[in-house]
Amino acid sequence: DDEKDMQVRPPVVTIMGHVDHGKTTLLDAIRNTKVTAGEAGGITQHIGAYQITNNGKQITFLDTPGHAAFTTMRARGAQVTDITILVVAADDGVMPQTVEAINHAKAAEVPIIVAVNKMDKEAANPDRVMQELTEHGLVSEAWGGDTIFVNVSAIKGDGIDDLLEMINLVSEVEELKANPNRTAAGTVIEAQLDKGRGSVATLLVQSGTLNVGDPIVVGHTYGRVRAMVNDLGRRVKSVGPSTPVEITGLNDVPQAGDPFMVFADEKKARQVGESRFKKQQDAQRKESSKLNLD
Ligand code: GTP
Ligand code: NA
Ligand code: MG
Repeated sequence: DDEKDMQVRPPVVTIMGHVDHGKTTLLDAIRNTKVTAGEAGGITQHIGAYQITNNGKQITFLDTPGHAAFTTMRARGAQVTDITILVVAADDGVMPQTVEAINHAKAAEVPIIVAVNKMDKEAANPDRVMQELTEHGLVSEAWGGDTIFVNVSAIKGDGIDDLLEMINLVSEVEELKANPNRTAAGTVIEAQLDKGRGSVATLLVQSGTLNVGDPIVVGHTYGRVRAMVNDLGRRVKSVGPSTPVEITGLNDVPQAGDPFMVFADEKKARQVGESRFKKQQDAQRKESSKLNLD
């Protein structure tokens, strides 16, 4: 892509941290306080990813807080996250999965913002969290380092605005850009077989614009985008970079972390898709005959 074709795109943010430190509650707080007025609370989560608007700027959150999803994606070579929010409970401090999350983010070279959560608790000790994280190379700006720490209470909604502001700040520094004026490419966030609709895949568009009717290859699957539903459960006709969207029209169910790509003509998409599908089927057959022999 030419530099002149590149346009600013929203950051894609993943929330990580130790069990029960408040990742889901934090996501809920962000959603409830920041989703456009009138939609607040009344939103059905159709897909495990959503966008909010804060001070006129969009942020995409991936609602796949489990490390498993992050690890699977990385193992498959997919890089979808621009920023990691590391949630640490102020009363509990750094725990084994906190360290794991730090290591994942560092390996993927993704900037970390620390959200010190549960500040409403009697036993909250944010200084101890800072101290403990220093030992893992995350030194707060307050202590002369370059890691952003934000104190929050997900349950009370305190500090959420600050956190969103910091996300905007970091994404500006990262200069996240993509070319919306090309055929779409990106990554599968999740996929499953739906009784009525068939194969349903949540895709994150990372570059280009995805349209209904586009010939597409997704991992070993292929087809034409039959319909698209956004994070608010609304039908959409086209979506640009950093947008999560649920699509139907694939011949089989792809896997999280699979890349997808739109082709200019259907014939080419079919060719590539059929050969990948066949390869996958052969591999599966081999696998099952091996199991039968054992
Ligand atoms: P897993 O997905 O199981 O790893 O947990 P999680 O990190 O998503 O934590 P979750 O949001 O499920 O919260 C765990 C518990 O902590 C719940 O009982 C929450 O109500 C509580 N909790 C979350 N945030 C806060 C907070 O800011 N203050 C207090 N007091 N409790 C909180
Ligand atoms: Na939990
Ligand atoms: Mg959770």
